[in-house]
Amino acid sequence: MVGVRNLLVGTWLLPAAYGTFSTSAAGSRSAASSTISSAYSQFTIPSDSDSGAHLIANIDDPEAVDAQSVCPGYRASNVRESSRGLTATLKLAGKPCNVYGTDVDSLDLSIEYLAHDRLNVQIVPTYLDSSNSSWFVLDEHVVPRPSSDKHASERRSDLEITWSNKPSFHFKVTRKATGDAIFDTTGSVLVFENQFVEFVTSLPRDYNLYGIGEHIEQLRILNNRTVTLYASDIGDPIDLNLYGTHPFYLDTRYYEVDHRGHHTLVAADNADQSKDYVSYSHGVFFRNAHGQEIIMQPEGLTWRTLGGSIDLTFYSGPTQVEVTKNYQLSTIGLPALQQYFTFGYHQCRWGYHNWTELEHVVSNFEKFEIPLETIWNDIDYMHGYRDFDNDQHRYPYSEGEEFLDKLHSSGRHYVPIIDAAIYIPNPDNVSDAYDTYTRGHKDDVFLKNPDGSEYIGAVWPGYTVFPDWHNPKTNDFWANEIVTWHKKVAIDGIWIDMNEVSSFCVGSCGSKNLSMNPAHPPFALPGEPGNVIYDYPEGFELSNKTEAAAASSAASSQAAAAATGDSGPSSTTPYLRTTPTAGVRNINHPPYVINHDQDGHDLAVHAVSPNATHYDGVQEYDVHNLFGHQILNATYHGLLKVDSNKRPFIIGRSTFAGSGKWAGHWGGDNASKWAYMFFSIPQALSFSLFGIPMFGVDTCGFNGNTDEELCNRWMQLSAFFPFYRNHNTLSAIPQEPYVWDSVAKATKSAMQIRYAILPYFYTLFHEAHTEGTTVMRALAWEFPTDPSLAAVDTQFLLGSALMIIPVLAPQATSVKGVFPGLKHGEVWYDWYSHEAVDAKPGVNTTIPAPLGHIPVFVRGGSVLPMQEPALTTKEARATPWSLLVALGGHGAASGQLYLDDGESNVPDETLNVEFTVERSALSVKAKGRWEEVNPLDRVTVLGVETRPGVVRFGGEVVSAEHVQWNSTSRVLSVGGLQKLTGKGAFSGNWTLKW
Ligand code: GLC
Repeated sequence: MVGVRNLLVGTWLLPAAYGTFSTSAAGSRSAASSTISSAYSQFTIPSDSDSGAHLIANIDDPEAVDAQSVCPGYRASNVRESSRGLTATLKLAGKPCNVYGTDVDSLDLSIEYLAHDRLNVQIVPTYLDSSNSSWFVLDEHVVPRPSSDKHASERRSDLEITWSNKPSFHFKVTRKATGDAIFDTTGSVLVFENQFVEFVTSLPRDYNLYGIGEHIEQLRILNNRTVTLYASDIGDPIDLNLYGTHPFYLDTRYYEVDHRGHHTLVAADNADQSKDYVSYSHGVFFRNAHGQEIIMQPEGLTWRTLGGSIDLTFYSGPTQVEVTKNYQLSTIGLPALQQYFTFGYHQCRWGYHNWTELEHVVSNFEKFEIPLETIWNDIDYMHGYRDFDNDQHRYPYSEGEEFLDKLHSSGRHYVPIIDAAIYIPNPDNVSDAYDTYTRGHKDDVFLKNPDGSEYIGAVWPGYTVFPDWHNPKTNDFWANEIVTWHKKVAIDGIWIDMNEVSSFCVGSCGSKNLSMNPAHPPFALPGEPGNVIYDYPEGFELSNKTEAAAASSAASSQAAAAATGDSGPSSTTPYLRTTPTAGVRNINHPPYVINHDQDGHDLAVHAVSPNATHYDGVQEYDVHNLFGHQILNATYHGLLKVDSNKRPFIIGRSTFAGSGKWAGHWGGDNASKWAYMFFSIPQALSFSLFGIPMFGVDTCGFNGNTDEELCNRWMQLSAFFPFYRNHNTLSAIPQEPYVWDSVAKATKSAMQIRYAILPYFYTLFHEAHTEGTTVMRALAWEFPTDPSLAAVDTQFLLGSALMIIPVLAPQATSVKGVFPGLKHGEVWYDWYSHEAVDAKPGVNTTIPAPLGHIPVFVRGGSVLPMQEPALTTKEARATPWSLLVALGGHGAASGQLYLDDGESNVPDETLNVEFTVERSALSVKAKGRWEEVNPLDRVTVLGVETRPGVVRFGGEVVSAEHVQWNSTSRVLSVGGLQKLTGKGAFSGNWTLKW
């Protein structure tokens, strides 16, 4: 896998990405490096303004010192124990090593049993004052600490922690039930410096770890790589740091248990299919927002950060479900409840030029009868890429009002992008005034340079400033901008972008250049000379020989022209290495270099630089990874100011642990490649663990051109992701689903399912919002006793009832998939034929999947509440109900339904329906005051082995003409129920017996 991934990065990942300067994008840079871009007769920000120092990542540096070999560690003293844990002082156990900063000589340790299933270890410097506390202490208002239960104690805990000073302080967390160490720093030293913290834990060989994001990788993290976390605006590199920061992992261990209850750990990949196992999962959250990396080794991991403290919480599970719930409920918060409409289909692209074009897209969806719920706008609508300001030629307010009135009355919605940066007007041009900036400047809400002047970076509009979320006035400023603009454009949600926070130059590059504003970014936009898109999905040449050959030769000429331009530092340029100076922090070039994926690994490249200074004096270095989180919070509260009773709908790019409270997330700038369609599954599953279930990716691919086959498969796959949006980069070929007949057809067929199961989606989300459960699920989480599922990420479950096995490769007509649980009597039904699947336990079964068909299976034991598909969710909600009952092994099944008005923040009226099936009877119990007026049309029962006799609904016999039973498929279908449920399908309790 490693080899393949490197190849992917090297050959096709980077060229089309605008923001990726590390390798191939150099072509784009040189193309745009002249001072005046003729195409735009605008000053172009020089490309070298986004070049950083030439650093070598510590993990690649042959001269790097291993802190473990030179640092003295600590010794605990002054230990005070209680039933809830202990406190102690940790004193440096020898001469300071000052390896990547200055050693902190005295630390406060606190170990606390927070609940029976939660344990916390916190280590912070003893002496903190206003000059240094922001280096070490994370603001609890921004990132809360885990909550504690007053009855917690060591005795009641699932876990036990022990520690020792020999040879230096280390600790071990053990799960009492198995006697297994789940975290063990034995044999390592603790390193705690002002710019570097390191701790090491051993792990069992062949561990199964999941999470630690954001990154793109297979679901189960490899045990020989480094996971770097530093919010970065970069077009979806594989295995490198990305937009968000989630220092959380799930660790699942499988055991064989003998008759005396003795647990023996087994490697998931070597487990014996014929045996039964038990598994225990635990979670680990490292509450630290600094740049960091986790060195995954075959039998352990080393966690290193550029600052902050140690605040580790262990969640004992013992199932993934319990770990995930506990993590959200006690620590990061539950995901926002979404409006019903957000589960409809979203269409977007960069390059919808005006309202007329948007209107045209909407009418095409109508014409081709493809459901469309929300039309999105990228930065095209803005006046010179300024937030909260429409281009009055292309997107005038008056025409917008007409467009939006019409759109809204058709039951559809509109969501535009808002970028994090704010344009700063050209002081030499009186007509360049920009009210948003003027207001923000007056309130003094923008980030500063160390000298107190405004920090001026660059994003799409040219030189820009950045809201400073540390200033208490900034949230009000942001809310006011949203409210003011909403009066002109009736938006239904906000797409927050560039919030890493991205800046296209190093430092306050605009300070002396404002008279050049507005300016062109320091690279060619997609489609501009030097960055013309010639890229296509893998395998494109097989089906489109001539076009592929032409594209490849044009791409080579473009690359050759670019090669003559800027080539970056030569291989002989010496690396800049920082020697730590006692007591001094070098935040621009910290002594430890994380493997950050921007040019030269420099933290200042393509982002607001570490020395930008916040209102309270905090340096950006210490809070960089929180910018995205804070703007999502501000946007959420801003939307509540527009309408306090409507659930804000926000999709954001940069997130932190807990951002799910306010926003969903999309996977960022992927490419139109089969590989990215595959990666979307592990991406989504990781975000399930991070408490951000509202997740989807740019369907059909963002960077590069897509093609018919990929788009066909992808439109079908994304139909089963919570957030379902097609988005495309500027100048790439159009990829709306109606562009190709086959894609339109495939899309409609997958959307038929999605729109029918909207009530199921909504119910799952409500459960996630109230209890912290997940929506998209890995097979291993639903079948925790089967080690063979530990790494499965090519198929997934939606809730517990549906399993999707998509085709992820070109030119395929079938796909292989496993049907978990068969050995224990699990039954799977084919969605389309309703017949039970004939498969063998543990066997990768070949499933026919011609283009346009996505295999979907219903799990026996489930009841799915459904309505009829329609072109909008509003229409779908007005259709009669049906129930799909998939009987489990013993003829039993159950399910739930949650309903409300679909938009109120705190709905007055709700309805909870419980479905229970046993002994050939389905009973329905409804509770709540939400009046569901639509009748029940039909109940379909899968797996009815014998011909039913009389069928009764309530006391009434259902006439035989409405009852069908198929002796081959074993499907019972009971129709004609509408007149029996005229007051609404769930207006009262009822039973259906067969
Ligand atoms: C960023 C976003 C992308 C958007 C583009 C232009 O790259 O990730 O989705 O289309 O900016 O706004």
